Amino acid sequence: MSFEFADRLRKIPPYLFAEIEEKVAKKKAEGLDIIDLGIGDPDLPTPQPLVDEIKRQLDDPENHRYPSSGGERDTRVAIAEWYSRRFGVELDPDREVAVLLGSKEGLANVARAFINPGDRVLCPNPAYPVYAQGATLLCDAEPVKVPLYEKDGFLPDLDALPADAKMLYLNYPNNPTGATATPSFLKDALRWCNETGTILCYDNAYSEMTFDDYVAPSILEFGRQAIEFGSLSKTFNMTGYRLGYAVGDAKLIAGLKKVKSQIDSGAPKFIQKAANVALGEYTGRSRPKMVEDNVKVYKERRDVMVRGLRELGYDIKLPKGTFYLFFGVGESSIEFANRMLEVGVVVTPGIGFGQNGEGFVRMALTQPVARLEEALERMRKA
Ligand SMILES: Cc1ncc(COP(=O)(O)O)c(C=O)c1O
Repeated sequence: MSFEFADRLRKIPPYLFAEIEEKVAKKKAEGLDIIDLGIGDPDLPTPQPLVDEIKRQLDDPENHRYPSSGGERDTRVAIAEWYSRRFGVELDPDREVAVLLGSKEGLANVARAFINPGDRVLCPNPAYPVYAQGATLLCDAEPVKVPLYEKDGFLPDLDALPADAKMLYLNYPNNPTGATATPSFLKDALRWCNETGTILCYDNAYSEMTFDDYVAPSILEFGRQAIEFGSLSKTFNMTGYRLGYAVGDAKLIAGLKKVKSQIDSGAPKFIQKAANVALGEYTGRSRPKMVEDNVKVYKERRDVMVRGLRELGYDIKLPKGTFYLFFGVGESSIEFANRMLEVGVVVTPGIGFGQNGEGFVRMALTQPVARLEEALERMRKA
């Protein structure tokens, strides 16, 4: 007997990252020392006070039980209060906030709530693949490519967007490009969405990972008819805990919560308790020490790597956000990544983020400075 994948699953393109992982495993087995700049997973540990809080909360049997799928009330309140301190945005914790199992599922599940088969969804390209795939294709909908070009700072041309789509995904600070958005662009994007009746899903997963004087805003600072997604993953080095949030328009949040109530049973209570402590570290708009310490590390790595890549002849801008460097390599991104792998340096080919990523590669700054310097040296020799 043979089992057939559903049509919608067959539409999902082969997972480039799995292929890379396989090649890396093979090289490791051959004994090659690998410097992995591929995956966007912080190498720094979760701040100790947050680990301690989880351990403490685990001792309370009440936290061993089912949570509520849309989030425990104390965590929804903690998120709302954080938005007030950090962004000056007031939220109703009962109607305008949902707790997520990491922002990834929310970005995908919101589409299940509002997208019908055949609907068109505007997906930037290059982009985090979940928008076009996990959200759009798995809803039997049609991803419409929104090209992002380096010459435009990787911001889309709003005037060129079709007005007949149901939903638009935007993400700044941006993975994979490291681009950030100006307030005027965000204001225009939200206005365009509201005028055309397009649901704006704003992915703000890197809101706290910014450098120099740049402070990332919330889309809700410019209006309330949108849904914004955020995460503790990168801010607090908590990728493995799976804790994110969605905030914004009450109808959009209600739809997302309704979908989630049929699929998951919420983030573990002891993780939500740690989230309360993490967000409580913010006393105002500025980052608390535990986040600032992280950002300092990434900033130093960014500066070392950008300087080194420029010395190697690459034309690369200093990104103001995220821990990614995205730069043109003047050849096929897969061939470049393969050549780098030969010397034990893992980079992600830009094409893995969509056709418009071709010719670029992404490096994640998830290795200590000494390893980044070693990677640069190997690249120089290669
Ligand atoms: C742009 C972007 N959005 C969302 C996510 C999902 O993060 P999480 O599900 O850990 O909150 C990621 C993870 O890499 C990302 O790069």
